[in-house]
Amino acid sequence: MNTLPSSKPPRLDARLQAAADFVRPGSTAADIGCDHGKLSAWLAGSGRCPLVFACDLRPGPLAKARATCAPWADRVVFRLGSGLSVLEPGEAQDIIIAGMGAETILEILDAAPWVRDAACNLVLVPATKHSLLRLGLWRRGFALRAETLCRAAGRLYTVVNARYTGRPCAPDAWACLTGLTAGQPAFAEYLAQQTPKVEKYRRGLPPGPEAAAVDALLQKLRQP
Ligand SMILES: C[S@@+](CC[C@H](N)C(=O)[O-])C[C@H]1O[C@@H](n2cnc3c(N)ncnc32)[C@H](O)[C@@H]1O
Repeated sequence: MNTLPSSKPPRLDARLQAAADFVRPGSTAADIGCDHGKLSAWLAGSGRCPLVFACDLRPGPLAKARATCAPWADRVVFRLGSGLSVLEPGEAQDIIIAGMGAETILEILDAAPWVRDAACNLVLVPATKHSLLRLGLWRRGFALRAETLCRAAGRLYTVVNARYTGRPCAPDAWACLTGLTAGQPAFAEYLAQQTPKVEKYRRGLPPGPEAAAVDALLQKLRQP
């Protein structure tokens, strides 16, 4: 047993703490793209998870994670490789993918059909394209269970908790833009942050039904 009894788990910023809060106590977790390893260390060191897989595509970040997680090395297993390919199906039930773009997160989920199991609890923190992540999840039959808007390093992030239900849906543009964030303290600011992105997207659209839908969305966004 190489746990140092006096070691405290690292303090997490609001974004990673919101992600940790969606991880079920007692579950085996996988931190995909763990980088600095703070989330893995917190999950193991706080006692939230008896076993954590800290995984990264690159050796450098994985070495950082090893150092961060050293006091809890008996509860953290390190895996080098892409996405969920480093795990056996079902090896972890709570899967966190944080700090990657929406396309990468969706690619990682697509490459591991075993996450389409009701037992899998997904915690997803897109670095970019929040709307695209929500749309991609809904189209694939995942349901959003909760979202937390939070601020870290001066930016607003959403932390998404999702599970597979097998019931795809086709949400409208407003649903994709806002997800389950409506009514949260930073919601107005979040919308204001999204508006220039929608305007930019609109500028690239030819006239047609999609442009009309985006115009309607912009009108809604600009309402006082
Ligand atoms: C910006 S860091 C995010 C670190 C941490 N998850 C967080 O949110 O603070 C992204 C990390 O994901 C890793 N990464 C990128 N693509 C990956 C993939 N396909 N599979 C596993 N890790 C990946 C990178 O090497 C990097 O360490």
